[in-house]
Amino acid sequence: MPVPWRRGMPIPYPFYILVVCTIATLILFTQQPELATRVAASVTALSPLALINFGQVKQEFAPPNDLRPRRVAIVGAGASGSAAAFFLSRAAREAESRAGAPHGSLLDIVVYERADYIGGRTTVVYPHGNTSLRPVELGASIFVDANLNLVKAAKLFGLEIVDPEFGGTGVAIWDGTEFLFMTSAEKGRWSGWWDSLAVLRRYGALSPMRQRRAVGALLKKFAHLYDARWLANRGSVANVDEFAESAGLGKVLTSRTGEDWARNVVKANALWVDEIMEASTRVNYCADLNQIHALGAAVSHASGGASAISGGNFRLFEAMLKHSGAEVRLQTEVDAIEPLDRGFRVTSNHSHLSDDYDEIFFAAPWHTSPVSKTLSSHFTQPIPKQQYVRLHVTMLATNAPHADPLYFFRGPGEAVPGTILTTGSTARAHPGAARPEFQSISYHGETYDGSGEWIVKIFSKAELSNDLLADIFGDNPTWVYRKVWDSYPVLHPTASFPPMQPMQGFHYLASLEPWVSTMETQTLSAREAVARSVQRWWNLGLGECRDADQSWDMTCGK
Ligand SMILES: Cc1cc2nc3c(=O)[nH]c(=O)nc-3n(C[C@H](O)[C@H](O)[C@H](O)COP(=O)(O)OP(=O)(O)OC[C@H]3O[C@@H](n4cnc5c(N)ncnc54)[C@H](O)[C@@H]3O)c2cc1C
Ligand SMILES: *[C@@H]1O[C@H](CO)[C@@H](O)[C@H](O)[C@H]1NC(C)=O
Ligand SMILES: *[C@@H]1O[C@H](CO)[C@@H](O)[C@H](O)[C@H]1NC(C)=O
Repeated sequence: MPVPWRRGMPIPYPFYILVVCTIATLILFTQQPELATRVAASVTALSPLALINFGQVKQEFAPPNDLRPRRVAIVGAGASGSAAAFFLSRAAREAESRAGAPHGSLLDIVVYERADYIGGRTTVVYPHGNTSLRPVELGASIFVDANLNLVKAAKLFGLEIVDPEFGGTGVAIWDGTEFLFMTSAEKGRWSGWWDSLAVLRRYGALSPMRQRRAVGALLKKFAHLYDARWLANRGSVANVDEFAESAGLGKVLTSRTGEDWARNVVKANALWVDEIMEASTRVNYCADLNQIHALGAAVSHASGGASAISGGNFRLFEAMLKHSGAEVRLQTEVDAIEPLDRGFRVTSNHSHLSDDYDEIFFAAPWHTSPVSKTLSSHFTQPIPKQQYVRLHVTMLATNAPHADPLYFFRGPGEAVPGTILTTGSTARAHPGAARPEFQSISYHGETYDGSGEWIVKIFSKAELSNDLLADIFGDNPTWVYRKVWDSYPVLHPTASFPPMQPMQGFHYLASLEPWVSTMETQTLSAREAVARSVQRWWNLGLGECRDADQSWDMTCGK
């Protein structure tokens, strides 16, 4: 029902149209069409109600369809679940302000998390279990400067971004028999070493340059996913295919192997492909280059501006949840989700209490989550079984300042860098040749400055026995912590993805993981799901705010 305009109220939209049209007509009349468009655009920009899409007036912000309060359950408090709560709450605040509804009146969010911590696969461990020591990432350890959601969140929450390197101790590539490549000790793990003289000498200048160019081209496409105008034009997406194809990061990359891409698209030379590129996919996704799809390979090589959050990346997700005002129920496992006439009933192991919700954001891998799978019979599109890489992370403390040269068939006293990456290419070319017993070893600095005790992280596909650890370091570790993760999907080449919304109102956030699995892309998965819901509920569109810097979602910088 229209309300008469009073001072202090937003000026009605038709009024702006009138002003814009009048001025534009006047200027057109004086034969200055360019000026006319510019004036029209700037006057329109003054309107709190207007939306400019590619310089044109598209639509006014329609009032929310229906102001009934919504209830949402999020299952899982990892990157995707926390980001879903964050984006949902921002959208709710925006919808409330547009509708003049009280703060907090449109949405209730409950987050269920079976673990006793926030972060899921993004979590830390303390050396010796001592919380006064510097924690080490046990799961997701780095993000890059192209990961704008995480970078912006760090800024918003005042979290300190740090360099994930702890002292440059060099990089080597091990094939199970010998070191194929080694940098000097000054070069760090994520940066510097690609430009080093050692690289030039072994691989030449062309391959590193071609790789940088190929990855740069993909990052440019990826950047669209944060561009307000591009997003407003694209709108929300219904499935992973649409998401990936619209960004130009679809089948052309996911249905071929990284090796094919490296040789035929990047056109890198054989040594670079077999050693450097393979080492990257092995450390990032525990996959050889011929086993992983090209997008997974490209992401493994996009290490520009590697960053981490001081104190642990999980703090980003903790802050997102806090900011959202969601009710977070830790140590609460969802055991069943049943569809109702309208919405869903969620039962948890907490006294088997049930609660009803309008929508579910399922923010964990479906098949490995302990929830009853009877809901599957209601799915209009099944969630295919997804294989995850079983990754063994071994954290240890040792008094050895580097691994034992003898283990690597080197003379006593010969250098062994602090980061040892691996390749399976020798073993593939020569059946019977030894394979590396691990994916990567990385030194992470001293327990505390001057302690003479070093923290080391090892990734492997099998458990590493105490004997093997003593062999590798020439000494018994002073502390060992083992964790087995269902870490990320086996990123085999594929042209089909799980449904983003297997049934109406049920959003599946792990659907994006076989496309690529990172903290950032899981926040994007959450944002896409939230965009679908808030469009329907409140007519809030992705990227509809004009200031691109503020428009990382559907809110207008609040
Ligand atoms: C060792 C390792 C290294 C990695 N390195 C990087 C990296 O350097 N950079 C990067 O960006 N990514 C990295 N990743 C990938 C990254 O961790 C994941 O892509 C991302 O964290 C997944 O977030 P998510 O929220 O989708 O899932 P998760 O983090 O798995 O969160 C799901 C949550 O749901 C909870 N849950 C499951 N079922 C239920 C239930 N029934 N009821 C209640 N709660 C439930 C789980 O306890 C969990 O907390 C790494 C992963 C691993 C394992
Ligand atoms: C934890 O580490 C701190 C700092 O090195 C040390 O002072 C303290 O004694 C340690 N605590 C335990 C229980 O070992
Ligand atoms: C629910 O399950 C979680 C995770 O398994 C557990 O930590 C918690 O104690 C359980 N709670 C109850 C009330 O059984």
